[in-house]
Amino acid sequence: MLRWQVEAGADEAILAEPVDRFAASAARRALRETSAAPALRTAPPPEPPAPKPPALAPARRPAPAAPMLPAQATGHQAAQAATTLEELRKALEQFEGCPLKHTATNLVFADGNPAARVMIVGEAPGAGEDRVGRPFVGVSGQLLDRMLGWIGLDRTKVYITNVLFWRPPGNRTPTQAEIAACLPFVERHIELVSPDILVLAGAASAKTLLARNEGITRLRGRWMLYESSGMTRPVPAMAIFHPAFLLRQPAQKREVWRDLLAIRDKLDSLD
Ligand code: URA
Repeated sequence: MLRWQVEAGADEAILAEPVDRFAASAARRALRETSAAPALRTAPPPEPPAPKPPALAPARRPAPAAPMLPAQATGHQAAQAATTLEELRKALEQFEGCPLKHTATNLVFADGNPAARVMIVGEAPGAGEDRVGRPFVGVSGQLLDRMLGWIGLDRTKVYITNVLFWRPPGNRTPTQAEIAACLPFVERHIELVSPDILVLAGAASAKTLLARNEGITRLRGRWMLYESSGMTRPVPAMAIFHPAFLLRQPAQKREVWRDLLAIRDKLDSLD
């Protein structure tokens, strides 16, 4: 049981006292059953299947609408001042605007070839990545490597990073504030690498970098144009299902295969 928990990423104490989540959810269920109106207890109808969008519909990434949070403004200045990837990494090491830094073991900056034509942006480091300071080194990373192999790519031909540079404790879902704090560095990262193609692995990466609210099922498989203020040209970007999702839902591999082939075709057409 302990080994299973460690593999699932539950490898550290978050609170001083244990919390009995089973008791808490039983209490919530009992409360719901006594107080909820009957209509609320019936399951909502399943979402209708997403209509398949045209394969190559381009959509320009809108400029961010919300004013910057203080951590984002400081981060923006520090990130924009970096003119090389090494300077960007150093700026992140000194950045105090993301509290995840204090619970993580290591900064997880990037892996692969900075001169590659393909840049992949995932979600957040897990336990293995936190331990070694490199993205996608665990089981998701092994599947990502196999997926790249399907289209003749490997880590010498891609550059890999995440929308978060530090592991969220216990692999919890990142908060919007944590994503916003890291975003200026992610944007600068993409500007400095200047890839031909951007691949956004998973919902957090796709929604953040495309500034869209739709789920990954709707966003994946479509070419969009990603751009930020410091870029000289927009970059074709495609969202794909995250390898961790594929490990849970292997039936979705067919969709990923289709998306990867589209990425291969795009790379060949830009040659
Ligand atoms: N999942 C991610 O999104 N990134 C990693 O680095 C590892 C797992």
